Amino acid sequence: MALLAHQLRTPLSTINALAQGLIRRADRLSTHDIQVKAEKIWRASLRLDELIETILSYTRASAGGIMLNPSEFHLAELIRRVCREQGGQEPERPFHLDIRDLPETIIGDQVLLEQALVIVVSNAMKYSSPHQPIDVTARREDSMVRITVKDRGIGISERDLPFILQPFFRGRNAKKLPGTGLGLSLAWYILKLHGGNLDVDSRERRGTKVSLIVPETNTTGISYSI
Ligand SMILES: Nc1ncnc2c1ncn2[C@@H]1O[C@H](COP(=O)(O)OP(=O)(O)OP(=O)(O)O)[C@@H](O)[C@H]1O
Ligand SMILES: [Mg+2]
Repeated sequence: MALLAHQLRTPLSTINALAQGLIRRADRLSTHDIQVKAEKIWRASLRLDELIETILSYTRASAGGIMLNPSEFHLAELIRRVCREQGGQEPERPFHLDIRDLPETIIGDQVLLEQALVIVVSNAMKYSSPHQPIDVTARREDSMVRITVKDRGIGISERDLPFILQPFFRGRNAKKLPGTGLGLSLAWYILKLHGGNLDVDSRERRGTKVSLIVPETNTTGISYSI
């Protein structure tokens, strides 16, 4: 709880300080300065929103409260949309997308699978610098689809790797960046609910490859607890 409170306070104190600055000095600031500050406030509020969403989803999942709401949908479209939206936040970053031979449609919970992919793509962006490329590939493997997100960022040390899916666990080289340590465990839980899996392969200072393994049709409905 202390860690979560700290994570929530960081963007909140940014908003607080910037807003106070605007109130006190608005008459002396140029339109450009006001715009820059307003944009910083906006980004901090997005971060806050993201944190609250992660905490709420995790709480629901750990209470056994996530139910799948499966439907038939175009997985390739979902992958393209996530990459477009996430990549759009860093227009300078090379984002390579390679989708081949996917089934036309799959059956699964579109909202949850999108959330899992956003978690993995946003990690790849957070833990690598903005000019380093990110490769997203999607391939059919037997009756599964493997979506792989590869970055060339800080990587995960061999010592930390076995613990990386545990809730609240954060790698020792990641602690200078904000985060709750809940994202990957939530993504893993979502894939397990679908009868799939999450694979993490990484080398420190080289980069990380996270694969989401999604069955084409099989939704087990089995409840895992994290
Ligand atoms: N692409 C990556 N590169 C390097 N380390 C990663 C990557 N993805 C995850 N990690 C490591 O795994 C840990 C757990 O990731 P997770 O997404 O669960 O939490 P977080 O990113 O720390 O916080 P949050 O997702 O809530 O912002 C991270 O703290 C980091 O150490
Ligand atoms: Mg994360």
